[in-house]
Amino acid sequence: MGPLVQSVPDSDLARVNTLPATPPWHQSWFDQDYLTLYQHRDPGEAADFLDRLAACGLIPPPRDCGPVLDLACGAARHSLLLSARGYRVLGLDWSQPLLRAGLAARGEAREPVLVRGDLGRPPFRGGAGLVLSLFTSLGYLDDDAANARVWDGLLALPRPGGRLVLDTLNPAWLRAGLVAESERRVGDWRVLERRCLLPASNQVEKTICFGPPDSEPRKVVERVKLYEPDWFRGPARAAGLRELAHWGDLDGRAWQPDAPRSILVWERNA
Ligand SMILES: C[S@@+](CC[C@H](N)C(=O)[O-])C[C@H]1O[C@@H](n2cnc3c(N)ncnc32)[C@H](O)[C@@H]1O
Repeated sequence: MGPLVQSVPDSDLARVNTLPATPPWHQSWFDQDYLTLYQHRDPGEAADFLDRLAACGLIPPPRDCGPVLDLACGAARHSLLLSARGYRVLGLDWSQPLLRAGLAARGEAREPVLVRGDLGRPPFRGGAGLVLSLFTSLGYLDDDAANARVWDGLLALPRPGGRLVLDTLNPAWLRAGLVAESERRVGDWRVLERRCLLPASNQVEKTICFGPPDSEPRKVVERVKLYEPDWFRGPARAAGLRELAHWGDLDGRAWQPDAPRSILVWERNA
């Protein structure tokens, strides 16, 4: 080992160390193909969910709500709707293709403001009337401490009296009913999905192979941490947020261990 290292000049070592690593899945997957595969996660679903939250008094009306931050907004389906209803909205995401789709849908309107940025370093100081983290947009990093830092960053953003809505998958439901393999069609694409649990890292892994017939399929691997509701609750409490609701799905049903989702709403103590 010694002679091998000594035979490589310092300048070459520096070059090897700075070779670009393969980007993690969450930096490369969210593009037009993602929108095609997840087309059922559409503005209609977003509208129903926001209507339900508003009807239950969990998000304030526009006149009483300060700025809204839609963090990991994707193609901005929630941002666009809230903006159309009179809220001042800023959506942040890392994916340029999804932000472009959001901007195309916005058309000539000036809002929502859509910016590219890293959830781990949101360029805001706080003061939000409403913070949204929707459709399992957290837990993408392999390192638990790094995910916890992202969550702490989000918890700092609501102003006193401001709300935070978190929508994630429910780990207990996922573990109990994991479908190891399934196939579906999207247009003329064949979509094959394989799922498995990675207990050592507490993640679920979904491998998706898809594409039109007679072509080499594209393969994508999604990997998400399985954080229980309490993983989010502890830091929220410590940050001075009071829990207002815990839903088990977008339809507003009460959370139970066998519910498909975990949707938590908090308010920062005034
Ligand atoms: C499952 S999608 C959800 C999008 C949107 N919230 C919705 O409901 O349609 C997850 C989003 O998180 C974004 N994302 C993942 N990691 C991110 C990061 N570190 N910073 C900003 N956005 C990120 C992805 O680009 C993607 O748009």
